[in-house]
Amino acid sequence: MRNAKWKAASRAAIALTGAGALAAGMALVLTAPAAAGTTLGASAAEKGRYFGTAVAAGRLNDGAYTTILNREFNMVTPENEMKIDATEPQQGQFSYGAAEQIVNHARSRGMNVRGHTLAWHSQQPGWMQNMSGSALRQAMLNHVTQVATHFRGQVVAWDVVNEAFADGSSGARRDSNLQRTGNDWIEAAFRAARAADPGAKLCYNDYNTDDWTHAKTQAVYSMVRDFKQRGVPIDCVGLQSHFNNNSPYPGNYRTTLSSFAALGVDVQITELDIEGASATWYRGVVEDCLAVARCNGITVWGIRDSDSWRASQTPLLFTSSGAKKPAYDAVLTALNNGTTPPTTTPPTTTPPPTTPPPTTPPANGGCTATVTVNQWTGGFVANVRVTAGSSALNSWTVTIALPSGATVTNAWSADRSGNTGTTNWTNVAYNGQVGAGQSTEFGFQANGTAGSLSPTCAAR
Ligand code: G3I
Repeated sequence: MRNAKWKAASRAAIALTGAGALAAGMALVLTAPAAAGTTLGASAAEKGRYFGTAVAAGRLNDGAYTTILNREFNMVTPENEMKIDATEPQQGQFSYGAAEQIVNHARSRGMNVRGHTLAWHSQQPGWMQNMSGSALRQAMLNHVTQVATHFRGQVVAWDVVNEAFADGSSGARRDSNLQRTGNDWIEAAFRAARAADPGAKLCYNDYNTDDWTHAKTQAVYSMVRDFKQRGVPIDCVGLQSHFNNNSPYPGNYRTTLSSFAALGVDVQITELDIEGASATWYRGVVEDCLAVARCNGITVWGIRDSDSWRASQTPLLFTSSGAKKPAYDAVLTALNNGTTPPTTTPPTTTPPPTTPPPTTPPANGGCTATVTVNQWTGGFVANVRVTAGSSALNSWTVTIALPSGATVTNAWSADRSGNTGTTNWTNVAYNGQVGAGQSTEFGFQANGTAGSLSPTCAAR
C-alpha cells in the first residue's frame, strides 16, 4: 500500500518535471520502449526512482544553481534548514522560513521533498544541548510532533532519526544526550512522527552503514529488524554514502541494500558524494540501487563542487562553474541502461477472507498507568506508560480526566475517544500485547494546562 503510494508520487513527479519528463512518464504508463532520459530526474523516473540533491536556501537566488536544480532533479533535501537548531531555535518557538523557501521552490516545480532531520545529537540548539532526562525526551517528542505536523503532506520521507549509532567495532548506540534519555528514544521518535504525518515515509538515516560487514551496518540492521518485528513504524533506511579514500565504496554495497530491503523497508541513498567524483564508483552506486527493487532513489549532497560541505574533495556531479563532469555522464548512462521495474498491476481478484484471530484468555492481572508531563505556556505533551500486572495484556484502555481548558490536539501510539474532559485511550495494533510486568507507552499533545493527571488503566 505504502509502496504503491510511493510509486504514484514518483509518477506525479515525472508528470510535473517538464515536457521531456512528461513524455517519459507517459512511456512508463503505456509501457512503450522508454526513450533514454536526458536529465538525472527524468532518467531515474523512467526506472520508478527519483534523483535528488541537497539544497541550501541561501543559494536559491543564484541563477546558475537553480538552473541546474530545476533541470536535473526531482527530489530535494534541505541541507540544514530543517535541522533542530534551524526549526526550533528557542524552545517552543518554531522558525520555518528557510525550510519553507526550499519546500515551496521544490513543490511548485513538481519536485518532492525529503525532510532532514527530526531527531539528532548534532546541530541541536543551545537550549536542547543543555537538557537531559525526561525533560529532553518530552522536548524531543514535541519537536518531532510540531515539525512533522507543520510539514504534513509536503514531505514524502522524513529522516526521523539521524546518526544514532557509534562508529567502530562496538555496534553500540552513539552516546548522546538523547541516548541517555533511554534506549527507546528512537522508537518513540518514530511513533511521534507517524502520528504527526501518517502519509510520510519514516526513515532511519546514518553514515558508514554501507559496508555489509561493518559492525555499525549490522547494528542498524538489527535495530530495523527488531522494529519491524515489534511493529515500530519504520518505512525506510537511509544510507548517507559519503565515500572517500578512508571510507570507500564497498564491493558488497548491493548486498547491504538488498539485505535492508529484505526486512520490508525501502532503501534510499540520501547524501551521496564521492571524493574526486570517481565515475566508476558513481556508476556502481547507481547500478546497485537499480538492482534492488526497494532502492527507490538517490540524493547527492549538493549540486556543484563549490556547493559541497567537502568542496576541496570535488565530490559532486557538476564543476564549480556548473559543467557536467564525467561522473554525471556515468550516472546518466547507468540510469538509462537500467532495466525498467515491472509496473504494479492492481489486484483483480477479491482477497481471501481473513481467518478470525485465535481467542485469547482474558487478562486478569490488571494494569497500571503513569504519566509524565512537559508543560509550557499554553500547552503540554503527556507521555503515558502502561504497565501490565501479573498477567500479560491483550489490550488495554487508559482513562485520563483532563482539567477544564485542556484540549488534545495530537496523539501517538493510542486511539482516543474525546479531546476534552474524560478521555479514553486504547492500544493500537502494535502495542496491545504487553508481557506480565512489561510496559509500553503512548503520548499526546494538548493545549492548556495539565495540572496533575491521574490516569487509570483497565485490561481488556
Ligand atoms: O550559515 C553560517 C554562516 O552564517 C557562518 O558565517 C558560518 C561560520 O562557520 O557558518 C554557517 O553555518 C554552517 C552551515 O553548514 C551552513 O554552511 C555551519 O557552521 C556548518 O556547521 C554547517 O555544516 C553542515 C553540517 O551538516 C553540520 O553538521 C553542512 O552544511 C551540511 O552539509 C552537513 O550535512 C550533514 C548531514 O546533515 C548529515 N550527514 C552528514 C552531512 C555532512 O556533514
